[in-house]
Amino acid sequence: MEVAWRNMFQSLAKNKSANKLARKYGLRFGAKRFVSGESIAEAISKVAELNKSGRVVTLDHLGEFVYTKEEANESTIMSLKTLDEIHASGVQSHLSVKMTSLGLDIDKDLCLNNMRKIVSRANQYGNFVRIDMEDYVHCQITIDIYEELRQEFDNVGLVIQAYLYRTEEDMKHLNELNANLRLVKGAYKESPDVAFPEKKDVDENYKKIIEMHMLNRNYTAVASHDEKIIQFTKELANKHGIGKDKFEFQMLYGICEDLQNKLVKEGYKVRVYVPYGKDWFGYFMRRLAERPANVWFILKNLFK
Ligand code: FDA
Repeated sequence: MEVAWRNMFQSLAKNKSANKLARKYGLRFGAKRFVSGESIAEAISKVAELNKSGRVVTLDHLGEFVYTKEEANESTIMSLKTLDEIHASGVQSHLSVKMTSLGLDIDKDLCLNNMRKIVSRANQYGNFVRIDMEDYVHCQITIDIYEELRQEFDNVGLVIQAYLYRTEEDMKHLNELNANLRLVKGAYKESPDVAFPEKKDVDENYKKIIEMHMLNRNYTAVASHDEKIIQFTKELANKHGIGKDKFEFQMLYGICEDLQNKLVKEGYKVRVYVPYGKDWFGYFMRRLAERPANVWFILKNLFK
């Protein structure tokens, strides 16, 4: 049953018509729990609140189904504006971006040039840009773009997903670039031809890549709400004398707040991924797919 719910939400996340309809009606069905708002002003005020509690942030301007050059450029402008607002307001936040929203499905060079503008603006402000990882079909080209940017910039990082079979090999290669990586389990619907279908195998591979990256003394963002993974990371760091300045924990806005605050109290760096924007539907569906029990939020909020 849980698998059926998961598949349904993962398919809905990719449904353009549902996304378009949701955009028209604004943040609904409990999406406010996971999305900070539709405007940059709302997002910045949420970031300021999180900063007050000792947590830093990475802001993401949501953008899905970008198929024209104009849409990709518009998305780029929104990312640049986000960096400008972070700088002007003085909040503590990085930026996260998705390559498809910057034109990856239209033309690689368009996307790469848009990314150059974003990473370069962030560089001027002493800020950092993280490239989110999307579904498998975009994996290699996203790594290629990261590698090109890495030749020019230090303030750019990438996300790597533990559920992919290819990940261990990718990590070996990325190690040579001293890549700053956010490591995650993986959120998209993938075929068993490319990704571990069983959760226990994903968790084992996740531990393996955390260990590889941390022991190689590369900066590691462990982005998970799984307490066993968090405990594993703490023990690994203690055992090998890896300082708290060499890694951080990351969690999603609206999820496991108590755990976030507990880690801050323990002296760990905690970064919250805060999405905002009108294209909230796909992101919201992926959060429901991760935990179908969240569906009761939809039911509770259906008539609000
Ligand atoms: P797991 O799914 O095992 O969950 C452990 C526990 O966490 C659950 O039992 C529950 O208590 C809580 N939990 C997890 N998800 C929840 C939810 N949606 N609602 C409520 N509780 C929940 N993926 C990707 O493919 N590309 C990317 O770029 C990113 N980026 C990213 C950034 C950050 C900061 C985070 C935290 C995650 C991502 N992800 C991602 C998503 C990631 O791949 C994964 O799908 C989720 O983090 C859920 O996996 P967990 O590691 O939390 O473990």
